[in-house]
Amino acid sequence: MTAMIDLHCHLLPGIDDGARDLPAAIAMARQFVDDGVILVACTPHILPGLYQNTGPQIRAAVADLRTVLQAEGIPLEVLAGADNHIVPDFVDGIRRGHLLTLADTRYVLVEPPHHVLPGRMEETFFSLTLAGYVPILTHPERLSWIRDNYALILRLVGQGVWMQVTAGSLTGKFGRDAKYWAERLLGDGAVHILATDAHDPRNRLPELGRGRDLAARLVGHAEAQQLVYTRPLGVIQNCEPHVISPPLREQASDAHSRADRDGHAKAGQRHPSGGIGRRLRSLFDR
Ligand SMILES: [Fe+2]
Repeated sequence: MTAMIDLHCHLLPGIDDGARDLPAAIAMARQFVDDGVILVACTPHILPGLYQNTGPQIRAAVADLRTVLQAEGIPLEVLAGADNHIVPDFVDGIRRGHLLTLADTRYVLVEPPHHVLPGRMEETFFSLTLAGYVPILTHPERLSWIRDNYALILRLVGQGVWMQVTAGSLTGKFGRDAKYWAERLLGDGAVHILATDAHDPRNRLPELGRGRDLAARLVGHAEAQQLVYTRPLGVIQNCEPHVISPPLREQASDAHSRADRDGHAKAGQRHPSGGIGRRLRSLFDR
């Protein structure tokens, strides 16, 4: 089994809607290890009015959890990060230490509202990139407004914003729409990171390996490995984004057809594989 790195999970106990307590966090940590994950960024919510976590609190909680995991003999490295809800003064929040980047690198998770497109979202991302950060937009496939704003998502990618898709979206855990958009983003070469966004050991447990294997059917094994190990490692090492391989687009030879994903294809019917089929699909599917 190949090692994996998870850059988005709610493993810290009792700090948000993630692991309820320490036994739950330990159970999740064991699930990570069983799945092949060797390192996670603990990324609890920082959401004004609901989860008032701060950088210093999260760092302390990560240090405590690391001690527990070592005492339990669980070989999982934990680093600090945050699932930072988008706020107008985002850059200032990072500089003040209130918001956290991933492992103190230039890479930072940014979570937009699920059901409302923020009015000045592009400005926020622009200010982050201007300040030298690489924003990683969390789970675009699960945002209800992606349907009407897919071009915006692709435009952000072109402007240097990374996209993090949730492994459970590929398994169908978040429903048909999330699965469709996850696969479409992957097919369009717009996904940089696959992560668990795991919250508990039962309903939203870590299952990065299943997500990786499903992604491999769309974009090939090498790109799937980029999604769960190579690019996350580059993040942890704070590599400049231009030295990290960009996402590959859908592989013609082993991809599911997009029409199948749209539900437009007749049962049992598949698009022709190969370059011609891919080009034909691209004409009709955009
Ligand atoms: Fe999250």
